[in-house]
Amino acid sequence: MKVIICKDYQEMSAKAYEYIYSVMAEKNFECILGLATGSTPIGLYKNMVADCKAGNVSYSRMKSVNLDEYIGLPITHDQSYCYFMRDNLFDHIDIDSKNYHLPQGNTADNEKACADYTALLARMQQDVQVLGLGSNGHIGFNEPFTPFDSTTHIVKLTDNTRQDNARFFASLNEVPTHSITMGIANIMNAKSVLVLASGDNKAKAVKAMVEGAVTEEVPASVLQNHKNVVVIVDEKAASLLRK
Ligand code: F6R
Repeated sequence: MKVIICKDYQEMSAKAYEYIYSVMAEKNFECILGLATGSTPIGLYKNMVADCKAGNVSYSRMKSVNLDEYIGLPITHDQSYCYFMRDNLFDHIDIDSKNYHLPQGNTADNEKACADYTALLARMQQDVQVLGLGSNGHIGFNEPFTPFDSTTHIVKLTDNTRQDNARFFASLNEVPTHSITMGIANIMNAKSVLVLASGDNKAKAVKAMVEGAVTEEVPASVLQNHKNVVVIVDEKAASLLRK
């Protein structure tokens, strides 16, 4: 694991874009990006949009796969992860809408949606998978004790997660009860992984991921077994690491 410590969120986002740009350039701008939602990668996505608008990068030959999606929300719902990705990235770059993929959270057959996404990932190995980090060490919606050999699966959201996310919905009742996520094995299959974390509330998880035991109790610790991982964090998120 290579760990890069940045002064703040802005520097972290700039370094993250430098890294993503290097992966894309190496592949002559024809590669498969694994993407994440959440607040952490928003700065990275802003940099991707700005550089595309400046004419320096084209996404016309790029493809992407996302980590996860809520179950039961139409993709037009403003809290769906599909909406988030369009709003923060896809609608502002020249990627073809046929070329970005998220797990299907709004179908009649969830088991088929999982199998379909796992099959898609088998055809579309990520050149790089971007990850945010949960304060409990989760990656995607893979919560503590998710088996390391898991593939795409349905997750029952904990009360805690639903309450945390309730602020984005009109009421707690409207927060989905389940999500669909890439499994840990699908994440580990990426050729490289870029983990981003910012802020004090991520410090414990960063330490456990980088310096702790490799255990299913801390899903992100599995990344110690991956041969090409770059962790870019700000000083607050790095504050508990041994110097
Ligand atoms: C997002 C995802 C989650 C987030 C994580 C951190 O697609 O799967 O694992 O990356 O919860 O979220 P933020 O960035 O909001 O702190």
